[in-house]
Amino acid sequence: QIDWKVEDEGLKGFPHFMLKEIYDQPETVRNACRGRMIVSEGVSVLGGLQSKMEEIKNLRKLIIVSCGTSYHAGLIGRYIFENLTDLNIEVELASEFRYRRLRLDETTAVLAISQSGETIDTLAAIREARRKGALTIGLVNVVGSTIARETDCGVYCHAGPEIGVASTKIFVSQLVILNLMALLIGRYQSVSLNEGVAVIKALQNLPDQISDILAQASQLEELAKTYQKYPNCLFIGRQMHTAVALEGALKLKEISYIHAEGYAAGEMKHGPISLIDENFPTIALLSNDASYDKMINNIQEIRARSGPVFAITYTGDAQAEKVADDIFRVPETHELLQPILSVIPLQLFAYYCARFRGTEIDKPRNLAKSVTVE
Ligand code: AGP
Repeated sequence: QIDWKVEDEGLKGFPHFMLKEIYDQPETVRNACRGRMIVSEGVSVLGGLQSKMEEIKNLRKLIIVSCGTSYHAGLIGRYIFENLTDLNIEVELASEFRYRRLRLDETTAVLAISQSGETIDTLAAIREARRKGALTIGLVNVVGSTIARETDCGVYCHAGPEIGVASTKIFVSQLVILNLMALLIGRYQSVSLNEGVAVIKALQNLPDQISDILAQASQLEELAKTYQKYPNCLFIGRQMHTAVALEGALKLKEISYIHAEGYAAGEMKHGPISLIDENFPTIALLSNDASYDKMINNIQEIRARSGPVFAITYTGDAQAEKVADDIFRVPETHELLQPILSVIPLQLFAYYCARFRGTEIDKPRNLAKSVTVE
């Protein structure tokens, strides 16, 4: 049993800010939603976008630019906007966007997702977008930060400071607000009242569902004891859960220094399956949708090569425990919100792997909370 000395009252009894922030997430969701939903009309209300609503209603294209965990939120945002709006969506790493030959105009908006609002690559992307005449929108946590000031409009996370270098609660906040942004636009387009109400009611249920997952953290601590011994780890998923796989891998590599890779599960036969043996575990993300059977096949193919598999799946799944070595179940929610629940066990898994490895969790080696220099 590890004995952790509490050194900072800001930790409120937690051994690390990262763990405190993981446990803040039910409140983080409430803070992101507070005053921003009208259930009876199935619409969201985002004051920070009101001044540009006429331009936003006339948009035809949205390009999401960000880095790291915020980029993974953007990848999920693509599905959210595709499902709730009629917009043509692109997602680009901010560090790559800067070099593209782009034809932007007033029917294109560039959405910058950034916790700090100071990430130099994301700021450069916004400046490039403004130069080319695009509307710029910010999704930022730090009030008054440079990206918040330099974008034409935007939405704050209202999540409070995130101290741990590894982003957790802000990722969840970003996903909630991406749903609110898409719903705001979509309800001027083809989204029905019922569809809007369904998203809002699912958002209202999220905090309790996250709390239910957090109550099972000891299961992840137990699994981490085994998996932290491996030098490598593969995370796989499909659709929105490909981005959750990328995020789970980033969490694990950032704080435990285990070499972790996230991959689209459909790519296994195109290369990664050659990595698999008894020393190379895979974390597989299953969801109750069209990709489920293919994910079960992925797990069987990995097990056939002696690869250990830990499956994150939904309550009620009857097959995964028959094919995977280990399993953790999350509650089901609206398909667009499912990544918010699936990522919670991956955050805890990474945290406990790092604890067993004894690494510096809140300030991992070589990393800064905000990358403000090239
Ligand atoms: C995520 O855990 C990392 N801390 C890092 O990838 C971070 O998400 C990235 O640097 C982007 O930061 P930002 O959201 O402040 O722009």
